[in-house]
Amino acid sequence: MDKTEKLQNVHTKWTSKCECELKKTATQAVPGFGSASAEIVFIGEAPGKKEDELGRPFVGAAGKFLDEMLAEINLKREDIYITNIVKYRPPNNRDPLPEEKSACRPWLLEELKIISPKLIIFLGRHAMNNFFPELQIGQAHGKMLVKPFKGMATKYFFPLYHPAAALYDGSMREILMADFKKIPKVLREIAKREN
Ligand code: URA
Repeated sequence: MDKTEKLQNVHTKWTSKCECELKKTATQAVPGFGSASAEIVFIGEAPGKKEDELGRPFVGAAGKFLDEMLAEINLKREDIYITNIVKYRPPNNRDPLPEEKSACRPWLLEELKIISPKLIIFLGRHAMNNFFPELQIGQAHGKMLVKPFKGMATKYFFPLYHPAAALYDGSMREILMADFKKIPKVLREIAKREN
C-alpha cells in the first residue's frame, strides 16, 4: 500500500472513529489534504465556514493568503500537505477546547507518521501549543525548533503566526511574510544537519 492509500485509510477510519464533540455541529470532517510524500506539513487550528462546507482545509480567505505566501517561495499546494489539529469546525469559529484537541490528536499523529515530513510548520499558537505548550507565539515565531517526540520521525518545527490573524493587520502580515520566506533556508539547515 502506498502512502496516499494509507492516508486515505487513516481519514476513513478516523472520520467514523473520532469522538470529537464538534462532530455534532459540523457539516462534515475536514481531513488533511495534499501530497502524501510532502517534505513540509503545515498544521492549522480548525476548519472555518468555507472549509466546513467543502471538506477541505484552508480554502477560505486565510487559505488564499497562504497560497500567496507559498507562491513567494515557489511552492504550490500540491507540493505540501496541510491539516488542522481539530478536524471539525467549532461553532462560530470559536477556539477549539482542550478536549476537542485531544479527541482529534491521534488522527493528526497518524497523518504525520505516514507522511514523515522533514519539517512541520505550525500556523498559529494553537497548532504550536499542541506540541510545545510552554511557548509563546510572539517569541517563537520564525525560529526553528528541534525536539524529538516519541513515535514521530520529524523533529524539526517552525512556528508562524496564523494567516487569518495577519490577513487584516498590515504589520503582522509583513512579519508573517518575512518568516515565511525563511522556509527554504530552514530546509537547507535541516539537510545540512541530517547529512
Ligand atoms: N484556519 C485554520 O486554522 N484552518 C483551516 O482549515 C482554515 C482556516
